[in-house]
Amino acid sequence: MQVGIDQIGFYTPNKYVDMIDLAHARNEDPNKFLIGIGQQKMSVADQTQDAVSMGINATLRYLDHIERKNVGLLIVGTESGVDQSKSASLFIKTALNLPLNVRTFEVKEACFGMTAGIMIARDYVRLHPNHSAIVIGADIARYGINTGGEVTQGAGSISVLVKADPRIMTLSAGHSAYSADINDFWRPNDSAVALVDGKYSKDVYLDFFRHTFADYQKQTGLKASDFTALLYHLPFVKMGFKANQLAIEKRDDETKKRLADNFAASAYYSKQIGNIYTASLYLSFLSLLENAQLPANAKVGLFSYGSGAMAEFYSGQICEDYGKALNQTADQEMIARRQKLTISEYEQIFNQALKVPQDGLKLASDEKSGTWYFAGTENHVRQYRQK
Ligand code: HMG
Repeated sequence: MQVGIDQIGFYTPNKYVDMIDLAHARNEDPNKFLIGIGQQKMSVADQTQDAVSMGINATLRYLDHIERKNVGLLIVGTESGVDQSKSASLFIKTALNLPLNVRTFEVKEACFGMTAGIMIARDYVRLHPNHSAIVIGADIARYGINTGGEVTQGAGSISVLVKADPRIMTLSAGHSAYSADINDFWRPNDSAVALVDGKYSKDVYLDFFRHTFADYQKQTGLKASDFTALLYHLPFVKMGFKANQLAIEKRDDETKKRLADNFAASAYYSKQIGNIYTASLYLSFLSLLENAQLPANAKVGLFSYGSGAMAEFYSGQICEDYGKALNQTADQEMIARRQKLTISEYEQIFNQALKVPQDGLKLASDEKSGTWYFAGTENHVRQYRQK
């Protein structure tokens, strides 16, 4: 029996900042952001979008195509949690009307959270082949106005359904994991924005890629030339580009071209959305599926990195009719529908979203109908509504 990804849903909020505008406002050369960092736009979440609402909106993209009663597991990977105790997944489960007997919880390990969920889901479905699992990554990357990390912010969610006999990608057995207790990026309890040692984080990311990719090749006997595409966690596009350069150095010209072309296809959506932390690797996956021409049974390698730090490399095989399970037009409309913010509008929204909502606050959404949003709190309980 094959187990893997059967459905994929994507959501990003309806506002963005253009990197050329940001560069001018910060007295930087626009080419530093466009070429040096590799980003064109970043999505911005206002107060009405958080990890819960974005996770609901991403899952709704495919919910009508699945058997809800078969969902036995719902996992949410996020580092933008809305409560110190209650899992984001409980709010989401209610909005999605999932069965009462679903096992559900939230996982956190920086950007590794969604991969942890997928690995748990893969092994769960192997043991419970009649059940499926929903795994959601949803995050808002916030470093702060006029910080070095500002150009690498973003917001969004990816949701996948893991089941037996999937339509998009089968997940291969095995993985290569690597971890160390380090301080490259973290967000202490008293801070609404991340703290980061930017240059160190870039070095560690590449170091962890070298370790996990080499170990995976040793374990499996696979070589870089056996992969149709390699996918990376993309905190910003240039980071994944550097890892891909390491993977293709000393390879034949055909492998170099294939992996470079498919990397460009996988980075297409991230370039326009920015870092969405836990879901960023899976946004690259969606972008590859919708912007590359993949042969039947294409072998894809995935590198997941979460600061702190935990990394994993694993792989999968693309299913023959994967295109039928996608909705490229709707995904591209989701990106194109966003409204451009001026830098002062963005700064105002950013500062407001940092504030802990006062109890009794009532929020209205400017999203289109059908979109879920955070509507404020009643008796300290977060309220989620559909527009
Ligand atoms: P910075 O110091 O402003 O930029 O911060 P820089 O000086 O390092 O320049 C960036 C690149 O632009 C360099 O290229 C420059 O040469 C180039 P590189 O040497 O890297 O190839 N450059 C130009 N290119 C063209 N024209 C120009 C020009 N000027 C300069 N005129 C940094 C950059 C990424 C450090 C900062 O944005 C930051 O701290 N970001 C957040 C941290 C981050 O994303 N780290 C990535 C690895 S850690 C990770 O992935 C985990 C994470 O997602 C969190 C989680 O797990 O939850 C972050």
